[in-house]
Amino acid sequence: MRLAVPTETDPHEARVAATPETVRKFVGLGASVAVESGAGAKSGILDADYEAAGAAVAQGLDDTLKDADIVLTVRRPNDAELAKIRRGAVVVAIMDPYGQDGALAALAQAGVDAFAMELLPRITRAQTMDVLSSQANLAGYRAVIDAAAEYGRALPLMMTPAGTVPAAKIFIMGVGVAGLQAIATARRLGAVVTATDVRPATKEQVESLGAKFIAVEDDEFRQAETGGGYAKEMSKEYQAKQAALVAGHIAKQDIVVTTALIPGRPAPRLITADMVRSMRPGSVIVDLAVERGGNCELSKPDEVVAVEGVKIVGHLNVANRIAATASTLYAKNLLAFVETLIDKQNKKLAINWDDEIVRATCLTRDGAIVHPNFQPKPA
Ligand code: NAI
Repeated sequence: MRLAVPTETDPHEARVAATPETVRKFVGLGASVAVESGAGAKSGILDADYEAAGAAVAQGLDDTLKDADIVLTVRRPNDAELAKIRRGAVVVAIMDPYGQDGALAALAQAGVDAFAMELLPRITRAQTMDVLSSQANLAGYRAVIDAAAEYGRALPLMMTPAGTVPAAKIFIMGVGVAGLQAIATARRLGAVVTATDVRPATKEQVESLGAKFIAVEDDEFRQAETGGGYAKEMSKEYQAKQAALVAGHIAKQDIVVTTALIPGRPAPRLITADMVRSMRPGSVIVDLAVERGGNCELSKPDEVVAVEGVKIVGHLNVANRIAATASTLYAKNLLAFVETLIDKQNKKLAINWDDEIVRATCLTRDGAIVHPNFQPKPA
């Protein structure tokens, strides 16, 4: 059983799909592991570290991917990589499958068994494999660090002989995995934290972290969670009430971090241009939803824009800004997933195609797109 870890091809991607720790585990499971030279460099992992863990360091893509049964990457492999992966190999990555018909067709054509980690069901057994959670958690942390770096003032209350510095007020909008970590981080840095969400279950979570919950708590709010634990798109009436409440609150905040998302929909617009202008100069907004259209009307992907002295931060792929930690957690997620595909006694790949986790994540198999949600439209 040969497992390969190529260097990520996107020059902006600093994460890597395996760490020395996971390499050691894979070797223990009977795999021979090839890591492309330099694959871990941007996450602070040297070739020698991989070698010490039992991997062979390969020079170039051909040697890395040669005869691999399992290929682990962060981003979906490109055509040049697919051309070098043997048919029937398992490829595991964050596949970004939505609206990518051409790329999915290429995976099918290459004959690989492609698994999209972001499609994992959010069931207890899959928690250790949940890349969305592990990366969102770090993005929530990093969003507050980025905000603190852009903010020209201190966050905690400081009583000094030269005078008292007030604590910064930080408002977190959207309290999923990223939002909860943003609250925890802002609290640790000494800010006064408030938070909002449309799912009633979040109220208790916010309060348990020592922050104050702010929301329009009407009948619609009480029913706003889907069976899967996600947010629903709210009615126009609710959105108007929410906007009125938020408008008054935002004007008094120093930092706002937005993380609000609805699966399969554009990000909800929560901060209008007028709300931005109501904030005092020097305030900071970090929009973690910018990749999906943004929670703030004025945020721009991959830019930090200033509007009348208010900075709006729109970094993309925020987990990548804390790559060494993100790689550690991502690699562990992949290890937990791949372990379920292996027959540990015979040290061979043995995929149970009826497993709920396999069915939910498998995009292509035997030359075809097999996932029901991504079937090519009839011509
Ligand atoms: P997400 O990334 O889809 O959304 C982020 C947050 O934005 C959510 O809390 C959502 O309610 C909120 N939101 C949506 N529209 C909003 C609006 N108009 N105003 C304010 N907030 C709005 O969510 P994420 O982080 O993926 O988590 C969703 C749920 O899944 C949570 O309950 C989480 O605890 C649960 N979960 C369960 C796991 C499991 O294995 N059982 C693993 C990870 C998460």
